[in-house]
Amino acid sequence: MEANIMGDEDITIDPWGSAQSTDYDRIIDQFGLTPLNPSTISQPSRLHRRGIVFAHRDLDVVQESQRKGDPFGVLTGLMPSGQMHLGHSMVIEQVKWFQHQGGDVTIAVADLESQATRGVGLEQGRKIALEEYIANYAALGLDPEKTNVYFQSKRPVVQRLGFQLGKRTNLNEFEAIYGFNGETNLAHVQAPLVQVGDILHPQTEEYGGLRPIVVPVGVDQDPHLRLTRGLASKTNWFNLKDASSRGLIISLSVHDENAAVFGQMPNGRIDRSKVEQVFSQIVESLMNLGFSDIMSSPKQGTVHVPSATQRDKHGIRMALLSLERQLGGPGLLAPSSTYHHFAVGMTGDKMSSSKPKTTLFLKDDVGTVEKKIKRAFSGSQATVEEHRRLGGNPDIDVAYQYMMYFFEDDDAYLAEINAGYRAGNILAGEMKQLCIDRATEWMSNLHEMRDQTAHLVTDFLARDSI
Ligand code: TRP
Repeated sequence: MEANIMGDEDITIDPWGSAQSTDYDRIIDQFGLTPLNPSTISQPSRLHRRGIVFAHRDLDVVQESQRKGDPFGVLTGLMPSGQMHLGHSMVIEQVKWFQHQGGDVTIAVADLESQATRGVGLEQGRKIALEEYIANYAALGLDPEKTNVYFQSKRPVVQRLGFQLGKRTNLNEFEAIYGFNGETNLAHVQAPLVQVGDILHPQTEEYGGLRPIVVPVGVDQDPHLRLTRGLASKTNWFNLKDASSRGLIISLSVHDENAAVFGQMPNGRIDRSKVEQVFSQIVESLMNLGFSDIMSSPKQGTVHVPSATQRDKHGIRMALLSLERQLGGPGLLAPSSTYHHFAVGMTGDKMSSSKPKTTLFLKDDVGTVEKKIKRAFSGSQATVEEHRRLGGNPDIDVAYQYMMYFFEDDDAYLAEINAGYRAGNILAGEMKQLCIDRATEWMSNLHEMRDQTAHLVTDFLARDSI
């Protein structure tokens, strides 16, 4: 189950493993992510501007809702085990950005997953979630009024969706996505299915209804998104495809759940009047969107809209999902997602909660912060003389990288110290001192905010999770 991080073989990503591929171009290629171009983002955050959030799936759908003022949601999850560190804060920064853009926020506490895969009891998981994570989310500036935190163990619809959608996948797919084999513990089969429930349930009527949901993650979580997107699509009652000639074409996707509604009688005959009724409802939905050239042929099982373009696809898809819901189906939209690069660990290896030297915990005091940065891996030359002559490498210099990822807001200043380091004008020790100054300011500010916002923690909890 380890990720394969070298060679020409396909990369497999293991969300539970310790290895991590940083060959982001290959990941984009192999898994069909779309590279994210910051200039197409309205009001890009610093993570977008700096190329740290580097790829997405269907983010345009969310941006369209943002622009139009239509509802959209953001979902993320936390694993209640260990301490919250800097790496975790990056997701929250993105959630905050979406929240500012008008998104409603749902946060899953993966207490079932943590219990099953890390041996953390539910009570313990709850305590860790509140004290380690939610307390920091409040301090980092998430708005408790617009955020709903829930526990997997307390939300039946999440578990139910996971169970129901299990019907549409099998062990071969899990082997292909996660690299599972006969030895794999079934908790690792159940956890992703519960996570599918996490990601899809905000679309249910009870939790906000049909709207785009975006999930900002590190690439290690992409297998879960691929699984979720596939399962959501497999439940859809209508297919929407590019027509071979021009425009878009809609057809029915008949399965057990909708056979009766679609006029498929148990004796194999077809109830034409039911079929025609469904087709006239499709036509009506399209007319409501403003289309007039609609070629409906119930006999062939298709509705062709020659004038529809790629830009119309999302609107039509949403109309079809609403119609599906009217007819009794789940009407699930595949989730959108964004992907961020991982900051390098302070030792130069991977950042990991189980190795305190590789990261800053949000509880570290300023003395510890200073010590860790002083010892951090640097991108300098072997001697000061060489550094002056040849220059340093900010791309691998932890002090510089942490300013870029976490502590420095000013792009122009970053560009300046980047150039200064490369030219050999700024020495490694000087870069570390710049980082220590910023990091201690950031950390003291966070600790102060944590005290000030401690009383808000329970306001983040959803009603079923208080
Ligand atoms: N599995 C995630 C982790 O290991 C936690 C998680 C649970 C999650 N449900 C989620 C993340 C939904 C994103 C979306 O951290």
